[in-house]
Amino acid sequence: MHFKQTDTPLLAAMQYYVQDRVIPFHTPGHKQGKGMHPTLEKLIGRDALALDLALIEELDDFHEPYGCIKDAQELTAQLYGADHSFFVINGTTGGIYAMILATAGPGEKIIVPRNAHRSIIGGIILSGATPVFMQPEVDEELGMAMGVTPETVALTVAKHPDAKAVLIINPTYYGVVTDLQKIVDIVHEHNMIVLVDEAHGPHLRFSSRLPIQAIDAGADICAQSSHKIIGALTQSSIVHCREGRIRVPHLKAMLQLTQSTSPNYIMLASLDVARMQMAVEGTKLIEQAIDLANWARLEINQIPGLYCFGVEKIGRPGVFDMDPTKITVTVKGLGLTGAEVEKILRHEYKVQAELSDIYNVLFLITLGDQEYEVKTLVAALRAVATKYAVPCKVDSVEDDHHVHYPAPPQRILSPREALFGNTCLVPFTESMGMVCAEIVTFYPPGIPILCPGERITQEIIDYCQRLQQAGMHISGPEDCTLQTIKVVD
Ligand SMILES: Cc1ncc(COP(=O)(O)O)c(C=O)c1O
Repeated sequence: MHFKQTDTPLLAAMQYYVQDRVIPFHTPGHKQGKGMHPTLEKLIGRDALALDLALIEELDDFHEPYGCIKDAQELTAQLYGADHSFFVINGTTGGIYAMILATAGPGEKIIVPRNAHRSIIGGIILSGATPVFMQPEVDEELGMAMGVTPETVALTVAKHPDAKAVLIINPTYYGVVTDLQKIVDIVHEHNMIVLVDEAHGPHLRFSSRLPIQAIDAGADICAQSSHKIIGALTQSSIVHCREGRIRVPHLKAMLQLTQSTSPNYIMLASLDVARMQMAVEGTKLIEQAIDLANWARLEINQIPGLYCFGVEKIGRPGVFDMDPTKITVTVKGLGLTGAEVEKILRHEYKVQAELSDIYNVLFLITLGDQEYEVKTLVAALRAVATKYAVPCKVDSVEDDHHVHYPAPPQRILSPREALFGNTCLVPFTESMGMVCAEIVTFYPPGIPILCPGERITQEIIDYCQRLQQAGMHISGPEDCTLQTIKVVD
């Protein structure tokens, strides 16, 4: 390859095509914005619309690249230290589907953490694989799932030597990191493949103050949400892989299966440019984000009623390292829920968090932030803490939540069999002994209580009802009040 990291071969090819003033008789139908309603045309702008292009010869083939897309992907692989990198246009969700489809087929076992993101459960449903769940550690103080320990992985692979792969979420949404290198060694000793959901890790390679990224830790394949953390457009992600355990042509086939035949070129170009930006100034930008986040953490920890966890958690179960750019503010000391604080911040202080759960609010500090934004965040949190503190309101929920976590249920069917079987809705209180056909999760800590294909127990029914009475947020079931639940008929 004759390109340098300062080049953007894909964007350059697109710009050349536009500058050549070709009359397009191809998709998209708006023809560089000319046929678009003026409202949308003005909003996006003619310059951007001209770059909304299609798969024509000089712009390469997304699914079997030979030209500018291939060059852009090769530069990406070089920068991230991967053997191959693939652009993905439907987020890390699409990347995870392809990773799972490429490694575990119908009836084959895949080992995954219980707090798997819904895209992982989705990938398992699509492939027909059988999940074997590992329990992540839970931090009681934060009410949050941390990493899965190497010890848990070792026990699970020893118990399921026929599994094809182990999937690890690293870092977690809240920036918690497990000992990935150790896990990779354990899994490879058992001749299994290591998949990493690295949605929150596209920046890790650019600072020695951040945890090691999956490919450098020896993982076989990972998916990163470039759009979440670095400068790519929403839905633009990357799958990186190493040769050896992964059959690359098969992976490519699975990426084809899970993605459109009409990729959005502006999104693809955003991946090309985001890669160039990280190559040229990634270290400077990420170091700055870390400094800002560290400053914010220190300030927030001086506000009475607030706690922002940091390096003091390292060494606790499931916490081998952490990404300091994730600012998780535990607000239970104010007597407010995370969701309440999120709403107050949005409507009174014009500050929007990434997400909240019952105890915590998460803020992402990225290369898009400067001193002004971070100071505004700290000032807003200080004002909320002064104005709203109602000590001890959240405690009863906490006690209830932690005392009675139910035993993991028995698996009867694969998630796919449960989902595509005959199903019906039954009253939740009468569902004991039935096989669940949907996911039931409470936040926190976001660990599914039930997954499709699992037997519902009385202990689970009682537990869910207690959490509901405590006002905790349910996610997953069709009936989000959980009066009824979908079961296999
Ligand atoms: C841990 C994790 N994995 C995967 C995803 C899916 O990523 P995307 O939104 O890029 O599809 C997310 C999204 O929030 C996530 O948090």
